[in-house]
Amino acid sequence: MGTSKDIPKQITTDAKIVVKDINRIFHLKKSKTEPARDFIALQDINLEVKKGEFLVLVGPSGCGKSTLLDILAGLAHPTSGVVYIDGKRVTGPALDRGIVLQGYALFPWRTVRQNVEFGLEIKKVPKGERKGISDHFIKLVGLDGFADRFPHELSGGMKQRVAIARALAYDPEVLLMDEPFAAVDAQTRESLQDELLRIWEETRKTIIFVTHSIEEAAFLGDRVAVLTANPGTLREIVKIDLPRPRHNSDIRSSAQFGWIRHKIWELLQNSPHEPKVHPQSLPVADAISPTAAL
Ligand SMILES: Nc1ncnc2c1ncn2[C@@H]1O[C@H](COP(=O)(O)OP(=O)(O)OP(=O)(O)O)[C@@H](O)[C@H]1O
Ligand SMILES: [Mg+2]
Repeated sequence: MGTSKDIPKQITTDAKIVVKDINRIFHLKKSKTEPARDFIALQDINLEVKKGEFLVLVGPSGCGKSTLLDILAGLAHPTSGVVYIDGKRVTGPALDRGIVLQGYALFPWRTVRQNVEFGLEIKKVPKGERKGISDHFIKLVGLDGFADRFPHELSGGMKQRVAIARALAYDPEVLLMDEPFAAVDAQTRESLQDELLRIWEETRKTIIFVTHSIEEAAFLGDRVAVLTANPGTLREIVKIDLPRPRHNSDIRSSAQFGWIRHKIWELLQNSPHEPKVHPQSLPVADAISPTAAL
């Protein structure tokens, strides 16, 4: 656990995560067509995330979402700037953060249970206790009865559930998720979103979730941070005032959801402007079309 003395005096915050003046520059070597140059992947990113908050990062391909998540995970270092978790500077990976990446990244030679118990082994949790914990998380993600299967025997959605169970099992306070549902079909994606919200409500982890999908961002987040590319900057943070719990509800078809979706869509465009009509006054079918309120 960190102590507040690690944070410079000018930051007076009770945030779980503080991202302070992050820049990430890649030095691109000379190629046949281009001279050597510096590429700014992230520029002046400042962000605070509260304990138990669900923050979504959304932005076009190449705007630096994965780069920022890697820095938060401690898997990469910023060129300048600092990340604090609980007031302690992040200098590398640690078990206070669970990571779920795009493309499952399960160990193919391990069963579901052995995958889920991986972090517990690293934490040196005694074998006798590990089974009870893995049972709990396998059940939590709806994979009861699949503990002894290997990853190649599972569907894409099931593999993604295992990845979530593995990240949750060693009880990290922060869950970092990089497009975890991008590779599954639309119906499975919606049920995984529902399941993630249910689990989040049960465990109250602090979640940072990366997605390309405006709809996914609006459905999941307490706030949605909109990034823009070239260079990767934080354009605006949109507060999502939709009621919770949102899972197992028809919130996606509400006018309010349509308006939030539109707002995020607009921020992702080059020249945002306010809708002339408040979409709550529009019929639902019109309000959820990105251009309907123009
Ligand atoms: N090791 C690297 N060397 C040079 N450039 C890099 C490196 N890693 C990332 N980049 C560049 O930094 C930018 C941000 O990459 P990043 O992977 O963070 O984008 P992203 O927002 O996650 O995109 P996507 O939505 O496609 O996953 C991209 O333009 C990418 O080409
Ligand atoms: Mg990415």
